[in-house]
Amino acid sequence: MVFAYSEYQIRRVYGIPAANLAIPTDEASLARGQHLVEVIGACPECHGYSLQGRPDFLNEPLIGHIPAANLTPHQTGVGSVYTVADWERAIRHGVGRDGRALIGVSSGALQHLSDADVAAIIAYLQTLPPGKREIPPRQLGLLARPFILISLLLPEEENDIMPALLIDHNASHPPASEPGITVEYGRYLVLLTCVECHKADLGGGSEPGEGMNITTGGNLGRWTEAEFIRAIKTGRTPEGNSLNITYMPQNRLRHLTEDELRAIWLYIQSIPPVVRER
Ligand code: HEC
Ligand code: HEC
Repeated sequence: MVFAYSEYQIRRVYGIPAANLAIPTDEASLARGQHLVEVIGACPECHGYSLQGRPDFLNEPLIGHIPAANLTPHQTGVGSVYTVADWERAIRHGVGRDGRALIGVSSGALQHLSDADVAAIIAYLQTLPPGKREIPPRQLGLLARPFILISLLLPEEENDIMPALLIDHNASHPPASEPGITVEYGRYLVLLTCVECHKADLGGGSEPGEGMNITTGGNLGRWTEAEFIRAIKTGRTPEGNSLNITYMPQNRLRHLTEDELRAIWLYIQSIPPVVRER
């Protein structure tokens, strides 16, 4: 049963129509694409500095050997063969070029990208210098199958095993996200960058590595906007704690712009406080 079902999910071919995207070429969009890739989408965290891939992204004998692809246009990289439609499916749907579900990707968050932003990401990726790094094919171990089943029980934003299983592939995407200091843009950024750890209600979790409560029901209820921005930019909270960067990717998030952090702050003020016994 476990085998048959997970085998079905591994072999299943998703027929996702090509998104109708206009790929920009102007400087501003390419800069936006780079910011989305490096800071918001965190691609280098898994695909490596310079995005030439990581052969050993996940290498656990029982689970399997899951490398993260070389994204550059070198012939060893997917950029040499990927079409715009392929990029969009991999990024927002978690589905590879052969139509099958990718494993270990972050499409649970990236599915929320607007058309304009996913287009800016693709535009930027197409400008990467070719980088030669051979990436071996994926191999699944014995325990990969039960993990795939377990992932179905997780809330959608936490399914980083096989996100394609839970993504609504027919959902419509916003054409653009208007950057600005607004609750809407703050919500957009939070869905892309914070929810995977801090959870959908931003109330956090109890395991190490799951984010803390960042609603106004936690410490943030006593912080000012300036203190919040300082905490993300410097890693020091008003309580005098240093954020544990093993778990909280402050080195990356400090590159969020001040306006982006102000938008996130506004969004946090707009949602219900979560109060949890710890
Ligand atoms: C949490 C880690 C992680 C993050 C963050 C991440 N990826 Fe990946 N990505 C992976 C892994 C692992 C694979 C290989 C999946 C597989 O082979 O099943 C992959 C595969 C891909 C593929 C498919 C390559 C192929 O073999 O066809 C593309 C395209 C891709 N990622 C693009 C991106 C882009 C663009 C970003 C940033 C916006 C990104 N990824 C962020 C882990 C990640
Ligand atoms: C990869 C997981 C991860 C992501 C992504 C993440 N965080 Fe965190 N965050 C954590 C963890 C874990 C902690 C607790 C750190 C510690 O114990 O020092 C934390 C702590 C915090 C704190 C300190 C709270 C306090 O009471 O001291 C703030 C503020 C915060 N995160 C904001 C954010 C925001 C805003 C985002 C999105 C822009 C974000 N985090 C994205 C994991 C994450």
